[in-house]
Amino acid sequence: MIENYLNKITQGDCLALLHNIPDNSIDVTFADPPFNLNKKYHTTKDKLALQEYLDWCQIWLGEMVRITKPTGSIFVHNIPKWLTFYATFLNEIADFKHWISWDAPSSPMGKTLQPSHYGILFYAKVAKENKFYEIRYQHKRCRKCGYLHKDYGGKKMALHPFGPLVSDVWTDIHRVKHNKYRDEHPCQLPLHLLERVILMSTDEGDIVLDPFAGTGTTALAAKRLGRNFIGFELDEQYQQIAESKLAQEKADSKIGQVWVSFFLEKVATMRNVDWEELAPHYIIPTAIQQVDQTAIVARNGHKEVRQVENSVNLPQERLFALP
Ligand SMILES: C[S@@+](CC[C@H](N)C(=O)[O-])C[C@H]1O[C@@H](n2cnc3c(N)ncnc32)[C@H](O)[C@@H]1O
Repeated sequence: MIENYLNKITQGDCLALLHNIPDNSIDVTFADPPFNLNKKYHTTKDKLALQEYLDWCQIWLGEMVRITKPTGSIFVHNIPKWLTFYATFLNEIADFKHWISWDAPSSPMGKTLQPSHYGILFYAKVAKENKFYEIRYQHKRCRKCGYLHKDYGGKKMALHPFGPLVSDVWTDIHRVKHNKYRDEHPCQLPLHLLERVILMSTDEGDIVLDPFAGTGTTALAAKRLGRNFIGFELDEQYQQIAESKLAQEKADSKIGQVWVSFFLEKVATMRNVDWEELAPHYIIPTAIQQVDQTAIVARNGHKEVRQVENSVNLPQERLFALP
């Protein structure tokens, strides 16, 4: 049955569609559901009574865990209020790994602290078997002088030339604000947020499923990184936007043979295990302390542009290989 849904966005209600996905068949499930905040979606409603919303969430959360492989991971993005309920439920059926705090300020609401992060719950289906890769992001630097923001003091010899390991607080990925990057959708996620999730939890050819695909961010990220994907979306207009974006996208987010995530012509996320293979693509100061004041530079020029000449249109049998 998976073949019917593979590498496309299917229009329909995810509760019905998820029934058609076999147990233990998906490597990673990622959900960014409606937040029940009365958002103006094109057709779908976003305002249920509290218990009705939670009962509904419990059904698809259970389905996500059911279809995820024992080696796989379950990610759920939402505001902290709903994640507290989700965690209570998920703790019974999967293994908690992280509450990732994604630093993304919203507007002050009055008489409360200003909400400034979204959470991404990260569960392993089975902790002992979970597939996970450590990831790195670029050092944060002063925009004017180029020096590292963080003071490494006497530990400069231990500096990683590219950047630190990513923690459970993500401050380097910003919400999609510019209209030129936005689709006609009220809550599109940034592509490189999903690329980070996918790099950390999957391998090339794995399957990523998103039951609330919106305009296709998860699917696009998966395709760019040579993964298979399955997307469900209730709204026909969003499903069509997603499909037309996917038709123009290639599996080419690489430097050499290494999958990486780009943002504004720079690498935003790479896997730690890939550094050895990536390092020759950079000019790195021989005295490592100099990384303190000078960013490493890609050898192909000053911009780490996506390598069109490296773009690998994966052989069909690889891209569509099923478990
Ligand atoms: C928060 S948005 C997801 C946005 C998506 N992450 C993106 O970056 O485009 C939630 C989406 O779920 C869709 N939706 C709501 N109820 C659904 C259902 N029962 N089945 C499938 N999709 C649904 C909405 O139309 C909306 O596009």
